[in-house]
Amino acid sequence: MHRALKSWTLWALGVAAHLEEECQRYLRVKGFADPIDLANALSLLDSPVPCAENKTAQILYAPNPEPSIPGATDTTSLSCRYGNPQMWQHCGVCCGLRPHFNWVIATCEETQGTGQFCSGLPRCLIDGSPKINYVAAYQFDGEHFVLMDESTAGELDTEGVAGNYWQGTGFSAQNQSFRWRGGDWTTKYAPWGEGQQGPRGVTPPAGLWILSAENFYYGAFYMLSQLNLNLEGQGLPTGTNCWMWELDPVEGTAGWEPGKPLPGNLNMAYSTENAQASGCMPISYTSRQANGMRSEFKFPEAFRSSCASKPDQPGCRPWRETIHWGGGREGTQRFENLWDEPYVFAVVVDAQGYWIYRWRPTAYAGAPDPSGVKTGWTGVERFKALRKLPARPSPVRDVRGLRTDVPGHVAEAVVLQPSLSTEATCLRSSVEEVTWQWGTDALAAMAQQLGEAGPGSRFEGTQNWWSSFTDTLQYANYPASIMGLEARNMTEALNCNTGKTFTCSCAASEEQTFSAPDVYV
Ligand SMILES: *[C@@H]1O[C@H](CO)[C@@H](O)[C@H](O)[C@H]1NC(C)=O
Ligand SMILES: *[C@@H]1O[C@H](CO)[C@@H](O)[C@H](O)[C@H]1NC(C)=O
Ligand SMILES: *[C@@H]1O[C@H](CO)[C@@H](O)[C@H](O)[C@H]1NC(C)=O
Repeated sequence: MHRALKSWTLWALGVAAHLEEECQRYLRVKGFADPIDLANALSLLDSPVPCAENKTAQILYAPNPEPSIPGATDTTSLSCRYGNPQMWQHCGVCCGLRPHFNWVIATCEETQGTGQFCSGLPRCLIDGSPKINYVAAYQFDGEHFVLMDESTAGELDTEGVAGNYWQGTGFSAQNQSFRWRGGDWTTKYAPWGEGQQGPRGVTPPAGLWILSAENFYYGAFYMLSQLNLNLEGQGLPTGTNCWMWELDPVEGTAGWEPGKPLPGNLNMAYSTENAQASGCMPISYTSRQANGMRSEFKFPEAFRSSCASKPDQPGCRPWRETIHWGGGREGTQRFENLWDEPYVFAVVVDAQGYWIYRWRPTAYAGAPDPSGVKTGWTGVERFKALRKLPARPSPVRDVRGLRTDVPGHVAEAVVLQPSLSTEATCLRSSVEEVTWQWGTDALAAMAQQLGEAGPGSRFEGTQNWWSSFTDTLQYANYPASIMGLEARNMTEALNCNTGKTFTCSCAASEEQTFSAPDVYV
């Protein structure tokens, strides 16, 4: 075994690329001679890899891999053909999924039956939340975020998108052309269409979605692959929805375990990145797992220096803490949203992960801006957003917004669900069995390091999509607490998380008014 590993390394060095430390260690720990040996093991697990792409199905249902916005990535070579078992079923329609993602808005508006996220909720909530100004999608072109009209629900003009719930403009006026299949949430809206002619969604090198609401007390703002959106929009013509990727930055939780107490108050919207796994865009789950259950803070790389200089800050000692960086029921990634309080959310996907910003525009009211419409991102306002946005907002400085479990009154906040670099992927995978998810993730990381993931290469069809995203420099020396806290450090007394206590005025904290931000340096 050792001899084989050595010769592999030497061979790889011969072609000027080699496996880095953690990926080499993965092979050693799992007893594989080389990446081919791992690929063979994956083939034995499921069906032969890679799966066979069906070009007919892709033209009918999948978005166009070729970009229409200059600077956006052509995703032709990014097709995922190792990983989620759905790829081997349903006439090959799911095989070859590419990184095209788009938004869904889910509500409890009563249009058909009642979904599990909506049963047993107060009438005031069903009738009064959410109240949405506009929803927008942007593609990063290497320099700016560029508005995508077909994926934006609001009033479009040459300036950008606008919407004002109180005036009946924007999302509420336009939502009928975004109606999508409801279900677990009673009513849903999303951009979808016919394959290549339909919306392209957000792709590498980075993307952004914005939700501006006058009330987001309860509802969901989440993302799925464009292929998934198209198939469900068309009524599942192939018998599957290719559900192989999901991101839930802002989600009400009453449907998670119906009948049980909610993990937070009714109006705490949770963030999760782990509702589904593809095998092509690895996810972290906990801080301890992401650091290989070892006694060292290694990933994400961006936080190394902050953790080295202040090692006792929350999140820097994964061997002592259980912090769910991927969010979820045991996680602390949540935003309390007060009743009829305007909030603007911005969700960025880039090489560092998923960045979820929230601003409370009314908190900025007063001199010099009396209007209460601004956010921390130039060009993004409560009732409108421009066609072209700078790559990042002003850094969030309010300490109360630089940790998860964000109270409703906080003016500005950011939560990060970290990506996994190739080295981080090998370390993360090393503490799991060799499954379609973790074995594939590790192989893809190795293929990337060896420069053998592309068309015609030996590991064509393996993907670490994170590697195709660019770093849009959202990180502004933030503390690791933007990825999560220990559960014991969350808001203590939940007063609104069981059916009997649900109201439309839930608030965990007494502090409702804006005071000057406590600035983080
Ligand atoms: C390819 O997809 C088309 C459209 O869904 C389907 O009719 C056909 O049977 C598929 N071909 C194979 C070989 O599965
Ligand atoms: C969607 O549109 C309908 C009809 O215009 C409107 O009654 C409803 O309030 C809208 N829903 C949302 C969440 O904006
Ligand atoms: C978290 O909770 C523990 C136990 O109550 C406490 O000692 C610690 O200081 C808290 N940490 C933070 C960051 O609030």
